[in-house]
Amino acid sequence: MADTSNRTNSRRILVTNALPYANGPIHIGHLLGYIQADIWVRFQRLIGNECHFVCADDAHGTPIMLKAQQLGMTPEAMIDEMNIAHQKDFADFAVSFDNYHSTHSSENRELATLIYTRLRDNGHIHTRVIEQLYDPEKEMFLPDRFVKGTCPDCGAEDQYGDNCDVCGATYSPTDLKNPRSAVSGAVPELRESEHYFFDLPAFGDMLKAWTRSGSLQPEMANKLNEWFEQGLQQWDISRDKPYFGFEIPDAPGKYFYVWLDAPIGYMSSFKNYCEKRQDLNFDDFWRPDSDAEVYHFIGKDIIYFHSLFWPAMLKGANFRQPTNVWAHGFITVNGTKMSKSKGTFIMARTYLDHLDPEYLRYYFAAKLTSRIDDLDLNLTDFAQRVNADLVGKVVNIASRCAGFISKKFDGKLSERIDDPVMLQEFQAAADDIAAAYEQREFAKAMREIMKLADRANEYIAVKEPWQLAKEEGKEAAVHNVCSMGIHLFRLLMIYLTPVVPALAKDAQGFLNDEFTWASAQQTLTGHAINKFKALMQRVPTEKIEAMLEASKESTAQQNTSAENTPSTKTAVNCEPIAAEIEFDDFAKVDLRVARIINAEHVDGADKLLKLTLDIGNEQRQVFAGIKSAYQPEQLIGQLTVMVANLKPRKMRFGMSEGMVLAAGPGGKEIYILNPHDGAQPGQRVM
Ligand code: MSP
Ligand code: ZN
Repeated sequence: MADTSNRTNSRRILVTNALPYANGPIHIGHLLGYIQADIWVRFQRLIGNECHFVCADDAHGTPIMLKAQQLGMTPEAMIDEMNIAHQKDFADFAVSFDNYHSTHSSENRELATLIYTRLRDNGHIHTRVIEQLYDPEKEMFLPDRFVKGTCPDCGAEDQYGDNCDVCGATYSPTDLKNPRSAVSGAVPELRESEHYFFDLPAFGDMLKAWTRSGSLQPEMANKLNEWFEQGLQQWDISRDKPYFGFEIPDAPGKYFYVWLDAPIGYMSSFKNYCEKRQDLNFDDFWRPDSDAEVYHFIGKDIIYFHSLFWPAMLKGANFRQPTNVWAHGFITVNGTKMSKSKGTFIMARTYLDHLDPEYLRYYFAAKLTSRIDDLDLNLTDFAQRVNADLVGKVVNIASRCAGFISKKFDGKLSERIDDPVMLQEFQAAADDIAAAYEQREFAKAMREIMKLADRANEYIAVKEPWQLAKEEGKEAAVHNVCSMGIHLFRLLMIYLTPVVPALAKDAQGFLNDEFTWASAQQTLTGHAINKFKALMQRVPTEKIEAMLEASKESTAQQNTSAENTPSTKTAVNCEPIAAEIEFDDFAKVDLRVARIINAEHVDGADKLLKLTLDIGNEQRQVFAGIKSAYQPEQLIGQLTVMVANLKPRKMRFGMSEGMVLAAGPGGKEIYILNPHDGAQPGQRVM
């Protein structure tokens, strides 16, 4: 056991949130996790626990290497720039990291090497030769997402090497028809290479015991059980050069796969922090028998890495395992996946340019539970909720009472508590609210706080201090009622501190007070407060509109990709001409001039637009994979050419009755065909 004799009996906690990739800016989807973790951390600190919160940029891997090349920068220069931008975004959202580092650091290189060496020496690393697609032009092996081609199942074009966006099929990149490299456009070839594998199955028993411990989120435990049933696999932890990462010791030209050293980044950021602080000892938190608590907040997409590979790696390298891994769901905006064309792919910076970060922190808190459900940021609801709760209920209490105190009573609160029972009830609520915070049931905590806020407002509405102030001899009553209102406001603000730290700071300035969780049990009778200044504005709805507009612009300009989507810009893909055919073969294809009479987005489809085509005597519905290049409104009314006798295909979203003709490599570069003026819908194209 750790020596705690010279410490108070507070818990020692280390918290991390998943490390953002260093190839794109922070967006509001990312922020959900960071804000959730930050609220929890701030709560722990407020109740007096020792709670450290560290993070870092995840700086390695193929997408980062290629992105830097695209920008004409070294990866080091790019990740340094991104690191600064990320830290600024987090600071402006009041995410209170104690340390922010990078996985491309000396600490991480040392720890990754140490962990790998221990795993190897303990017999947990094996090598095997595998076959993988290779880009002969770019001279590199291609990760699945960097191979594109025709879906082997449904025939949809321009699909990634791991799964089809159109029919949802999953496959391996070698199954794609007409595969090509998304990096150079070259036709990839299969090549052999020796890879290093981590023996995950050897840790099956340990992982199962952890799953049964009862402390995991139920959805997480279910997922793990599914994976156990499917059987654990050897994990490929090496990549061939060229790669941006750490070279594997004694294996020239082989690099650690980014996901090997990424979670080690949690440790190395903490190590870097310990080096800056004399009073913190790395081993106290990471040795196998440590009694400190370690929690990782992550999104639901990376559970596999955090709940299987990571604990197993730690175990195999003789370090402690995390106390728990807490996953959250994904952000949707206005009910659908964040979308660049709708302007709902909102960057943290774009949000900050328009709106107060505390609005978003409160909104997330008001909707977050301990479960892994997705969370919808409905922008109408967002404005209403923030206005009703924070501005209309909480801040309103102070603004209704403060003026009287400063004008009539020299800024001093009354010596008397007007309604002691009510005050006690507000104080007693601290325990339930604390329990909700502790269990990450933030929505519940916010509901409890807002119920109290309703009661505080009712109290003031009933007492009507503004009426009392007009009556003679009611001076003391006005003083007592307004002081009571200020006391209640103070308690609400203490309880809200983890969620809205800036508002809480201003409230402390106004109240001339310093909040801790315990201070809620004290009462500031006779206390001098400061002049009240407006603490929070209503959400300016026109700013929400402006933010969405700016999101459309900024994504169009920079074409930033937070999804690691490889750019096809440089791919000049001049396919060889196909084998010769007879005229009769061509005549089988019935091409028709078609007018696009409607075009719309399809819920849940990333790439498709739904087109209604008029071909003279009939109308056709066609799903076309052109969403990345066209807005529906650009298309409506246009003429194009369609294959009219293609066998209808059932897709996830409905029947597709034909195909429109288009050229180009994909992405923004898709060009649909457009006949010269004068052509009429229904005319045959020969
Ligand atoms: N670099 C990895 C994590 C390595 S941790 C050792 C990664 N990076 S990420 O930038 O893609 O995501 C960072 C965090 O943001 C992850 O927890 C991820 O789940 C989360 N989110 C990314 N998009 C999100 C939403 N749209 N909604 C909610 N969380 C999202 O994964
Ligand atoms: Zn498909």
